[in-house]
Amino acid sequence: MPRLVDPFQRTVDYLRISVTDRCDFRCVYCMSEHMEFLPKKELLTLEELNRICSTFIGLGVKKLRITGGEPLVRRGIMTFFRSMSRHLDSGALKELTLTTNGSQLRRFATELYDCGVRRVNLSMDTLDPQRFRDITRWGRFDQVMDGIDAAVEAGLKVKINAVALKGVNDDEIHTMVEWCGARGHDLTFIEVMPMGDLGNEDRLDQYYSLKDLRRDLETKWTLTNTTDRTGGPARYVRVEETGGRVGFITPLTHNFCESCNRVRLTCTGQLFMCLGQEDEADLRTVARNNPDDDAPLIEAIHAAIARKPKGHDFDYSRQTVSGQVTRHMSHTGG
Ligand code: GTP
Ligand code: 5AD
Ligand code: SF4
Repeated sequence: MPRLVDPFQRTVDYLRISVTDRCDFRCVYCMSEHMEFLPKKELLTLEELNRICSTFIGLGVKKLRITGGEPLVRRGIMTFFRSMSRHLDSGALKELTLTTNGSQLRRFATELYDCGVRRVNLSMDTLDPQRFRDITRWGRFDQVMDGIDAAVEAGLKVKINAVALKGVNDDEIHTMVEWCGARGHDLTFIEVMPMGDLGNEDRLDQYYSLKDLRRDLETKWTLTNTTDRTGGPARYVRVEETGGRVGFITPLTHNFCESCNRVRLTCTGQLFMCLGQEDEADLRTVARNNPDDDAPLIEAIHAAIARKPKGHDFDYSRQTVSGQVTRHMSHTGG
């Protein structure tokens, strides 16, 4: 079987694809309020996305996660999901999934299920509608809640992603564990990363280490470590009182780069080998210059994987933000 192996002997079998840089929300840690979006001609077409993703699958990628911006606002995106589902049918692909803000799930949940999607990760940092508005700027809490219901009704498993923010949602950690536990959602907390030109000085004030968050959770809940993995960087514990799972994504307190198995394709066809580094490979040009021959594309992918760096350099430990990258999170889809 073909495999993509990087210089540190890590097998890359997880591709994240940002299908649009646009979003109907403006989360404070992800975008500025006045974003300039890419002109349409810069974007990979749905056919180009299909071709590049299928090439990766031919090279051993087993998991595709569709991200954005908000992936479900990309026009025609279901055509792309539909085309990827053939790789599930053939057995080449093990998982087709997405990370979404939930706003469009009422409309698309059933169709996603039909395309073979079985679980979705949904960004929801608070259960308080006013606070939700403060964090997402444009988000509508009720619409997202309804989207979660629609996903569950369609048979999708929903995992909730919450970025842990001191002074913003740190007083809600117990409520969120309780709510997710009662509804059967896994819950993953994420340490905030310094991305974009968003005044990253705030990151330091808002940074809530998951070491502290876990200790705070343990004042109320009994947490048991598990060896469960979902293919991403989260480490999970079981909450004995609810029977639910809570995951921790800790780019700052515990660097998980040594086990990194993923690369990221942007909506313009740039391949980022690390979320926290600037190096990229331009697959769009290679694909467009060779419309009838996949060999150069395959070669470009191998060359890119050969440059995959050891890891990110995010660091807040000296009371300053370092290792930040200037791209917005929406550019690479997290
Ligand atoms: P699962 O399939 O459920 O394991 O999903 P996942 O954690 O891989 O994907 P998701 O889109 O839910 O990502 C959650 C968070 O993890 C996002 O904030 C990502 O930015 C972050 N994340 C994922 N991979 C990496 C990585 O390689 N490095 C860093 N620093 N953060 C990552
Ligand atoms: N730090 C950590 N997580 C972030 N996300 C967006 N921006 C940041 C950031 N600066 C999260 C979203 C979503 C996931 C794809 O990335 O909340 O769940
Ligand atoms: Fe949109 Fe997700 Fe970024 Fe929020 S985190 S602005 S929902 S892309």
